[in-house]
Amino acid sequence: MTRKHKIQRIGLITGGGDCPGLNAAIRAVTRAAINEHRWEVFGFLDGYEGLVEDRWTPLTSDRVSGIISRGGTMLGTSNRADPFHYHLHNSKKTSNHVKDLLQTIKRHGLDGLVIIGGDGTLTSAAKLHKLGVPVVAIPKTIDNDLRGTDVTIGFNSALTIATDSIDRLHTTAEAHHRVMVVEVMGRYAGWIALRSGIAGGGDVILIPEIPYDPKCVAATIERRLHHNRRFSIVVVAEGAHPKKGKMVVDHIDKKSPDPIRLGGIGKYVANQLETAGYESRVTVLGHLQRGGTPTAFDRWIATQFGVKAVETLASGQSGRMVAVQHGNIITIPLAQAVHKLHRVSPKGDEVRAAMAVGTSFGI
Ligand code: F6P
Repeated sequence: MTRKHKIQRIGLITGGGDCPGLNAAIRAVTRAAINEHRWEVFGFLDGYEGLVEDRWTPLTSDRVSGIISRGGTMLGTSNRADPFHYHLHNSKKTSNHVKDLLQTIKRHGLDGLVIIGGDGTLTSAAKLHKLGVPVVAIPKTIDNDLRGTDVTIGFNSALTIATDSIDRLHTTAEAHHRVMVVEVMGRYAGWIALRSGIAGGGDVILIPEIPYDPKCVAATIERRLHHNRRFSIVVVAEGAHPKKGKMVVDHIDKKSPDPIRLGGIGKYVANQLETAGYESRVTVLGHLQRGGTPTAFDRWIATQFGVKAVETLASGQSGRMVAVQHGNIITIPLAQAVHKLHRVSPKGDEVRAAMAVGTSFGI
């Protein structure tokens, strides 16, 4: 969609789960919009909630000063607010509140929206674009499961935290001659487990894309014992599951568009190993992977993405998502990114490389 008049004002939201690097993206969008185009920037609060309920804060160059190194998001976020299925005032029932969102856009004379989010948030953004709202999206999620981009904001920070944690667990595993199981995030895609497992020298990596056989996991531990390796590290993605088994669900959050809250597979794997005779401990990294200081890479990519999003809106384009492919910052049709998740290929180079250095995937 191409706009006829010049942009004067834009809205910005961060939606879905938070992650390190969101503030860097907010800063980049705000500064590029003001410095390059003299646009006004409205920061809507708590994801789509701010747009539906007209809650916002003006973003100026000063307001975004000093936030590049901070985790979280200065705008707040929500992984429950979907304007197409909206829980007004926390009610249990959902209704369509797109009209309210469109009124907010009209009331403030917004000429475009920059929407920073993961799969859920960007699926709604794609629908808004279809309704004629000028939208440019920025991909973020520690799970790295959005298509069309080599990486999403937040993934590198989560990976760094997970790898550092595996390093720390290694010393105790070695000292006590134990199995240390570490559960990392990754609902449907095992990128964090795969890459932190490779980087941390994990002995077993269990991911959603490769259902595992508990006997094969135990056989790996046993093989290591025979080679006088009296400890093992098992890295498990929260969405991993045994062959013929299901994902371990912690609870159901009925108000969320993606209601399944995972958690517990680490304990399940550790119990299986204990039953097989191997002393095991489990550590669940949970939200530690989403908190704290973003890595230099996440600050850098967030800045590139933010500036590119402004450039894309300025050129009159909509329904695009900024992305990085082979080192180039580009844009792709938003619908392409949310159509299907970007998952680990069980036969891909990374899995083969991990196997080549002796890592087991429990198969
Ligand atoms: O999608 C990102 C993610 O961190 C997943 O890895 C995880 O399952 C989920 O969000 C947790 O969501 P919440 O913060 O609502 O518990």
